[in-house]
Amino acid sequence: MDKIFIEGGRTLKGSIRISGAKNAALPLMAATILAPGQHVLHNVPDLRDTRTMLVLLESFGITWQRREKDNALLIDATNLDNIEASYDLVKTMRASVLVLGPLLARMGQARVSLPGGCAIGARPIDFHMQGLGRLGVELSLEQGYVEGKIDGRLQGSDVNFDIPSVTGTENILMAATLAEGVTTIKNAAREPEIGNLVDMLINMGARIEGKGTDRLVVHGVNELRSAEARVIPDRIETGTYLIAVGATGGELTLTDCDPTHLASLIDKLREVGLDIEEGVDHLWVARHGALKSVDIKTMPYPGFPTDLQAQIMALMSISQGLSVITETIFENRFMHVAELARMGADIRIDGKSSIVKGRSGLSGAQVMATDLRASASLVIAALAAEGETEISRVYHLDRGYDNLAGKLNNVGARIRRVKE
Ligand code: EPZ
Repeated sequence: MDKIFIEGGRTLKGSIRISGAKNAALPLMAATILAPGQHVLHNVPDLRDTRTMLVLLESFGITWQRREKDNALLIDATNLDNIEASYDLVKTMRASVLVLGPLLARMGQARVSLPGGCAIGARPIDFHMQGLGRLGVELSLEQGYVEGKIDGRLQGSDVNFDIPSVTGTENILMAATLAEGVTTIKNAAREPEIGNLVDMLINMGARIEGKGTDRLVVHGVNELRSAEARVIPDRIETGTYLIAVGATGGELTLTDCDPTHLASLIDKLREVGLDIEEGVDHLWVARHGALKSVDIKTMPYPGFPTDLQAQIMALMSISQGLSVITETIFENRFMHVAELARMGADIRIDGKSSIVKGRSGLSGAQVMATDLRASASLVIAALAAEGETEISRVYHLDRGYDNLAGKLNNVGARIRRVKE
């Protein structure tokens, strides 16, 4: 497992291009299962998770290639000769559950390994199964696999989510496009990645109303066709770099991003004391003065994203004052607290909240990445810390950040990666 070594205390200055969003690319790739022919996906980031999704699609008989001229991902889903998503693949990426709805809609059957938990929580898929059950699917759990089948087409119905589940909404949305009749999804998640999926499905011939709202109405069609789609910019990658400037000082221009997807973070960072200017597809951020501690409460979109909670905690560790950070989405998303404490952060966990007492500075240390966004939090802390920090298990970072070290080194950071 590789390690990275970060020399702290260097300010960031320059420009970073934001890659396509991991959490948009994965459902778009799964959606190709719904229609034969060659789909063309633009701006798909090259990540561990998107590579895992390609292996999963290949295991169904789907073929793909990267187009030389524009690096577009061409996915041909004409031949589907397998409907099983194996444990070996699913255990490395829970988003594999996104193939369940499309396989059932196109093939009438699916066998997908239960994803199993991860560092941040149990990550159940009961909402996915309840929703598919409402669409007429017979589901059973056999040896750790979800087995689903239906004779004929899925049947449109009302699906009501207790919690606005992101991938739950995406799974039911994809399944409903080929169902007979109308499906209404209530309390749907409103993340921008779902809007990206709605646009692609409509390009494929689906009939969907309510994009961007918590109520999606899908009029089922008999078949869909292959289509082109473009992955939206990664709002979590963008937010990670905005927060990094807060930690190191300096200034960055972030290009090919969408500031409208980050309103809650931008408001908070302005409260902290960062200067942020928004363009149509770029952001400029600078830190000149002291950092002010603010309280954070993660919420479903458009609230403060849980995927930026660990990162802003690193920033609050070196801000002036007390910050109460409350995590309302996942039950165990404070794994980064113990690692930040090794660098001198003063954080006390109290149930769903962490109380962060800002310190003047952190010191470099040996720390371990525990999950994707926790590892980004450690990178931010290391950039600001005194001395060198060694972060192990950086494969977590590779899952969701396209060349993070390279992009940061291009704007003044000193990060080196060592193969173990
Ligand atoms: C998506 O996960 C994202 N992943 C996560 O990003 C993100 O943190 C999360 O949404 C919340 O915004 C992808 O899009 C691939 P949920 P998802 O269903 O869909 C509970 C990252 O770092 N729940 O919205 O799995 C669940 O336990 C990842 O990029 C059920 O109880 O999250 C959680 O408490 C991490 N039963 C809450 O709902 C279910 O069937 C929200 O989860 C489904 C979810």
